[in-house]
Amino acid sequence: MAKSRYGLHINFIAGTVFGLCFGVFLSTWCRNKFIPCAPSFTRSGCCIENLQFNVNIEVEPADQNALKSSQAINNIFIEEADEKGFLFVGVMTAKKYLDSRAVSAYKTWARSINGKVVFFSSEGSTSKYDIPFVSLKNVDDSYPPQKKSFSMLKYMADHYLDKYEWFMRADDDAFVKGDLMEQFLRSVNSSKPQFIGQAGVGTKEEIGLLSLGNTDNYCMGGTGIVFSHETLRKIAPHLKYCVNNLYTTHEDVEIGRCVRQFAGIPCTWAFEMQKLFYQNFKEYRGSFIDTLQDKEVQTALTMHPIKDPSYQYRINNHFTSEKILALRQKEIELQREISDMNQLLNEQTKTMNKYGLRPSVTTFIPTKEKDVLGWEYVSTRSVSSHLNVNPRKGMNAFRKHALDNTVYQTMDIINKNSRQRGRTIDFKDVLYGYVQTDPLNGVSYILDILLTYRKHKGKTMNAPVRRHAYLHQTFTETEFIEDPLTLAQRDQLDSQMSPFTYKHLIGSKIPQAKLKETVHFIVPLAGKVREFDRFMKNYEDICLRTRENSQMHVVLFTKNSFPDEVEEILKIVGQYQKKYGGELLEVLEADGDFARAKALDLGAKQCSDDDLLFCVDVDILLTADSLNRIRLNTIQNVQIYYPIVFSQYDPDTLCNNKTLGSQCNVEPLDFSPRMGYWRQFGYGIAAMYRSDLEKVGGYDTSIQGWGKEDVDLFDKFVQNNITVFRAVDTGMIHVFHPIRCDVNLEPSQFQMCIGSKATCLASQQQLAEMVLQMKNVLDREVPSV
Ligand SMILES: *[C@@H]1O[C@H](CO)[C@@H](O)[C@H](O)[C@H]1NC(C)=O
Ligand SMILES: *[C@@H]1O[C@H](CO)[C@@H](O)[C@H](O)[C@H]1NC(C)=O
Ligand SMILES: *[C@@H]1O[C@H](CO)[C@@H](O)[C@H](O)[C@H]1NC(C)=O
Repeated sequence: MAKSRYGLHINFIAGTVFGLCFGVFLSTWCRNKFIPCAPSFTRSGCCIENLQFNVNIEVEPADQNALKSSQAINNIFIEEADEKGFLFVGVMTAKKYLDSRAVSAYKTWARSINGKVVFFSSEGSTSKYDIPFVSLKNVDDSYPPQKKSFSMLKYMADHYLDKYEWFMRADDDAFVKGDLMEQFLRSVNSSKPQFIGQAGVGTKEEIGLLSLGNTDNYCMGGTGIVFSHETLRKIAPHLKYCVNNLYTTHEDVEIGRCVRQFAGIPCTWAFEMQKLFYQNFKEYRGSFIDTLQDKEVQTALTMHPIKDPSYQYRINNHFTSEKILALRQKEIELQREISDMNQLLNEQTKTMNKYGLRPSVTTFIPTKEKDVLGWEYVSTRSVSSHLNVNPRKGMNAFRKHALDNTVYQTMDIINKNSRQRGRTIDFKDVLYGYVQTDPLNGVSYILDILLTYRKHKGKTMNAPVRRHAYLHQTFTETEFIEDPLTLAQRDQLDSQMSPFTYKHLIGSKIPQAKLKETVHFIVPLAGKVREFDRFMKNYEDICLRTRENSQMHVVLFTKNSFPDEVEEILKIVGQYQKKYGGELLEVLEADGDFARAKALDLGAKQCSDDDLLFCVDVDILLTADSLNRIRLNTIQNVQIYYPIVFSQYDPDTLCNNKTLGSQCNVEPLDFSPRMGYWRQFGYGIAAMYRSDLEKVGGYDTSIQGWGKEDVDLFDKFVQNNITVFRAVDTGMIHVFHPIRCDVNLEPSQFQMCIGSKATCLASQQQLAEMVLQMKNVLDREVPSV
């Protein structure tokens, strides 16, 4: 339809009844608090099958010669119902859209129609897909589609007039909500002439040119036109006359004229029709990309235009998810009702289940300190959470989505009875909020919301208001999904392997050669004899003694080591060389000041392009199984392995505990939060092929000292589209060592050093406990300013 023809003037007609129940959320207003409950946030991808309606069409092979009808019919649809069907929808399409728009419409909204949906196209149309369509004889795909439209109506009248209560003419780029449409039409008498749609009179320029009388209108085509069977019965004998006596080139205007002349009625003059038959003016290119959650779109019976067929699926998913949400809400309400009844029956102890709990932000009452559930602080841009080591984080997509959804549902509740109350309340902004997730009972929100109050009954007024909303979102019961593995496959399942890993390994055995690959250790070193000694003992255990294929390259900065330290280090290496063979270990002497980048660069240069390098530090302790993870997680030309190592806290702080006394022991494989933390931000330990290191330009050897060179390299890999694989590796432990931050470091490196030093001290929990015992800190006087 031409865009410019929607300027309309609308009159009110009382008496049209709308039986639309949409939001099904419970709302309880209590002193400015509302505690609605909505179930979890699942949007799409739910494992609940769409409710299918009885779209029951049988298609017979084409037999054009056998048909002597005025129109050739490609497919014959056989009616089996004796009873009248509800709604027959004829969708006007064209050859070029039969395999795109028609298919997406058929697979989406057409299923929601209680009745039948058939597509009408030009003569000689074919489709690759199994969709019900009629190829109209003597009709082409030219625009305007007047002949197509009248032929379609004739076809519907000829074949289905007595078989359906309602008939609809729809465009192939419209979306029809079958269930809402049915609810609406059930409230209207189909035995009377009815002509329902969005009424138009043409644009200002067209007034007088459409040959309409002063009070004449027509139903606009794009958003769909509904006829009662009585209307179709009345116009059917005259369709031929109408198509031969056209006044304009507008197909919908001509249908309107035909209905007015022969059924004696105009298109419904009702303001609401603009909303129910919804034309999207907001989005220039259509397809409802940003407006799906708009109030009008929610309550619309039809939506137009959807130019991109894939958006039919997106829209369908959206409304299907809404239905799931509503059904879950219903389920929770019923559970509550059962609980209420049980209480009356005094059976609460027996059958009370948590899904039947009344919504409350204080459902869970902790009895122990450690059970207290924290609240996360949420503002527009960031989230501050006690659950993060670094408490403040940016707002991520899923949180934003959850918050938007919560607000959206909340506004729905607030505005539920707007019309009766004579006011609407518009959402402006969430100023801030608190969120608490209770794994058993659901999610609670306390939101400070900025709203605009608009009174439109009596004396109108607009006023900004702020409200605290207390919201609780209950979880539904756990759903189980069958594992796609067969029983036989499950039997083969190694108990050591997660089903996920197993599925990925099925059929692709780990190549044995990969497990034998030589790992080249590159270890930068300056002084630190004691640590080096420990590191080499560990290395002997996991590599040398077990004859693992590995090579050790120690890069020693002699300038930063005392002469006796250098001697000591060389002595240690010498011992292992003697015991296991000189070719397995080498010491490279580097001159100048310690620079980790330079050390790693030098080490790498000793290896060939196809060698697997493992850049490590003397503070790391390894277990034997970490070697195979290095080999398997590093893929030449494809992937770099950045293990996340476990960093132990300062044992002195850990053991600063009088009850433990001298028994304080740091167990190497104790990964509890008290003992250390996973170094999520550490990029120093990495495994890569030399060729990949070279490809991205290697380490930046201009970086002095320690820190920064690793982040620089990481960035280079990311920029060069090489996959970075990061995972917690339980075979790598960073042993605590006291950190001294040299004030001569470059300021940014110095800051990083101080940061590292602070994070290594102890867990936040323990530090807090320690502070609570420090009388001098707690009781100190606040200096007056
Ligand atoms: C519907 O309209 C027909 C024809 O005007 C009338 O006979 C019938 O009683 C109406 N039905 C209802 C439920 O109003
Ligand atoms: C001391 O150790 C005991 C036993 O492990 C523990 O319960 C307690 O919380 C620790 N106290 C401090 C201050 O670390
Ligand atoms: C990495 O991929 C992006 C997007 O595919 C591309 O624009 C960029 O040029 C690629 N960079 C390199 C270094 O290949």
